Amino acid sequence: MIVGQRIRRPDALDKVKGSALYIEDVAVAGALVAGVLRSPHAHARIARLDVFAARNLPGVHAVLTAADIPGKNLIPMIQNDWPVLAEGVVRHVGEAVALVAAEDREALAAGLAAIKVEYEKLPPRLEMEEALAAGEILAQWKVRRGEAEVALGRSDVVVVEGTYHTPYQEHAYIEPNGMVAIPEGPGVVVHGSMQCPFYVQKAVASALGCDLSHARIVQTVTGGGFGGKEDAPSAPGAQVALLARATGRAVRLILTREEDMAVMSKRHPGRIRMRTGATRDGHLVACEVDYLLDGGAYATLSPVVLFRGTVHACGPYRVPNVKVDARAVRTNTVPSGAFRGFGEPQVVFACESQMDRLAERLDMDPLALRRINALRAGDETITGHRLTTSVGFDEVLDKVAEASGWESKRESFPSHSGLVRRGIGLAACYYGVGLGAMGKHLNPAGASVVVSADGSVTVAVGTTEIGQGMITVLSQITAEALGCPVELVKIMDPDTSRVPDSGPTVASRTTVMSGNAIRDAAAKIRAAMEPVIADSGLNWRDAVLLCVTKQVGLAAHGWSVPPTTTFDLETGQGEAYICYSWSANVVEVEVDMETGETRVTKVWSGHDTGRVINPTTGEGQVEGGVLQGLGYALVEEHMLRDGRILNDQFSTYIIPTTLDTPEIKAILVEHEFPWGPYGAKGLGETPIIGVAPAVTAAIHHATGVHLDRIPATPERVWAALRARSVEGG
Ligand code: MOS
Repeated sequence: MIVGQRIRRPDALDKVKGSALYIEDVAVAGALVAGVLRSPHAHARIARLDVFAARNLPGVHAVLTAADIPGKNLIPMIQNDWPVLAEGVVRHVGEAVALVAAEDREALAAGLAAIKVEYEKLPPRLEMEEALAAGEILAQWKVRRGEAEVALGRSDVVVVEGTYHTPYQEHAYIEPNGMVAIPEGPGVVVHGSMQCPFYVQKAVASALGCDLSHARIVQTVTGGGFGGKEDAPSAPGAQVALLARATGRAVRLILTREEDMAVMSKRHPGRIRMRTGATRDGHLVACEVDYLLDGGAYATLSPVVLFRGTVHACGPYRVPNVKVDARAVRTNTVPSGAFRGFGEPQVVFACESQMDRLAERLDMDPLALRRINALRAGDETITGHRLTTSVGFDEVLDKVAEASGWESKRESFPSHSGLVRRGIGLAACYYGVGLGAMGKHLNPAGASVVVSADGSVTVAVGTTEIGQGMITVLSQITAEALGCPVELVKIMDPDTSRVPDSGPTVASRTTVMSGNAIRDAAAKIRAAMEPVIADSGLNWRDAVLLCVTKQVGLAAHGWSVPPTTTFDLETGQGEAYICYSWSANVVEVEVDMETGETRVTKVWSGHDTGRVINPTTGEGQVEGGVLQGLGYALVEEHMLRDGRILNDQFSTYIIPTTLDTPEIKAILVEHEFPWGPYGAKGLGETPIIGVAPAVTAAIHHATGVHLDRIPATPERVWAALRARSVEGG
């Protein structure tokens, strides 16, 4: 079988050699350069917007404001509140106010400088608690199961309570956002760096007021997304399309790093209050969660980010009594959006920190507490979803415990004394694969498979390669399903004209959804071939040749629609997702008791992700996700003043580098998901979700201090150590 093999990434060589064409490398003859005039204020009325002088400058080809949009001034998302260009009011620093297309960079700079805007400042709302008090609620969800408050009041129940804070996280993809639009007929072709061509297509068609067929979107090689190129690229996509239509010329809009970091989406900052109760022998009885996210100025994806956090709020455990109230609020800050984990890392930091505190209160080993409560086949999640299959959580816990030497290290580390203390911590999580009950309308995915006369195979899908290894795993699935050599498979750049709307490349859904669509198409081609080749024993190329000679059509479209789920938003009960991936991380640290510095020495990251299509890309997902999680746990945060992000460069927004990378041991266990292609589930996001609470649990093991806020910077750890020593006298 080719599925399960460690084949080399088909796209690796071009990327390593530098010959892959990212959007900035794409040469378009005669293209104009574009720029965006952005709001300097978090909240203001636009009293005057005068583009006359700018329009008349030499080399300036177009200056556009909201008034110049032929279609709707709207980027279609869940709540349709997000304008392409500000109209009358700006609601966050960096919001787009006007667009310029010019001959060259000098003319562009002159054009942007010549636009006259007068703002009347309005009071900005910058803090999420303040927005909550003002009733600025973008979305709210709940889960109700049993009687949480009653259970938490029982005399036999031990209750721990905490309030946790999580920061913004910047995606820090290597390639900033960029788009090139070329006029074509009454519409445009837009090439660019993105995760979701069909989102960009809807935004472009809406802004231009054209048919979807005239908004053709082609994804170029993309240098990372991590959720940051899910909804956010719809804005530059629509903007560059407007300029291309207005000028009749090709137009390039490439964001600078500072611009990209300052104005594109981020992980939502979160505040989570939680009460968790268990019996003295460690059985979870109740969990009460108040989950708050800062959605920023526009709703964008906040409702679905919040939904995922809501249904996963109590962790991968059996909890009979649950009350979750989750809200996302509107502030005058950059819209928060999708980021790997999608509303889970925030609430999982709280939930798993609670589990660690509960273990301490019960005088139990944190792993033992998880084992007692772990969800197994036959159990129900907090939304009442009965799990029947592919629940490998127990095995994941066993494997990470064994590999890390959990028991002996938990016992021996505390006896160490001295300036540098060692600790080992654990955290677990689960992840509903795919879009689930909230994203049903975007669920299906398509594929087009064409076999050429020489036996080579061209595959088009609607999902995108964003570094995660889609091309590799879909090549393997194609080869497996058709019975052809994998070297003959070519996965095309996604283009909205090749396949029907296949939804977004998010939610760890790509392997499952596009994989199944390819299998559907391949099955049709095999069915056409079988009667011709019968039991001739011909190899692939000869079999294809025979079919071609007999004029058998060797092309097919495939379509994949996941099993239905039922969910009641009023009670938060039902099947939230089609299946779950399961994960646990063990992290080992050294903490300098004098400086508060934490060094992560090793991570064991275990995942039940169903059948692993390619172990190397799977391990790559784990290593990358864990490292991104270590950044979230230890160093990454944005500083804001008056709604402006102060650290908008890699010299000031710090992420882990190779030198900060510990040994990361990926452990993949395979509890097959029957509906997934060859039993596969999703692996894109689980690796990041449970890292931060494992780090803070390890810091607690090393030092005895609990942290309820990340990142665990040396300053925060030092302050916690100092507070304890002052308290202790
Ligand atoms: Mo995502 S964070 O589901 O691209």
